[in-house]
Amino acid sequence: MMRASLDREALIRAAAAAREFAYAPYSGYEVGAALWAASGRVYVGCNVENAVYPLSMCAERAAVFSAVSDGQREFDAVAVVTENGGAPCGSCRQVLREFGTGMVVLIADVEGNYREMTVGELLPDSFSVADLA
Ligand code: THU
Repeated sequence: MMRASLDREALIRAAAAAREFAYAPYSGYEVGAALWAASGRVYVGCNVENAVYPLSMCAERAAVFSAVSDGQREFDAVAVVTENGGAPCGSCRQVLREFGTGMVVLIADVEGNYREMTVGELLPDSFSVADLA
């Protein structure tokens, strides 16, 4: 099957667009994420906060859960956009890692500046299904 090759700028634009929907009235820190599935489809997420603070959900996990709920399990890349180019939190790193250490991670700010690494670099020596054996 023809596999659409990763378009980094497009993925970052999709994450920035999702960030516009961020619901972050408590922290004021708006986050958008976009996942490039192996199917070529893109899935987005934004952070969704709650008056019961711990119930808040991060943008990256919202994107992963949306993609998996649509039958996707293979991902080439994820882009995360914040005002200042902040890195994904530890919980999101672990959730991304479930789907492979080779996934490209693009950490961008609202200007479109970004740095690139892999999930394995973001979460070294991680726990995985292999540890459950
Ligand atoms: N947040 C994310 O959406 N992703 C991250 O990886 C870091 C933090 C959100 C959670 C909360 O709504 C706000 O940013 C401040 O922590």
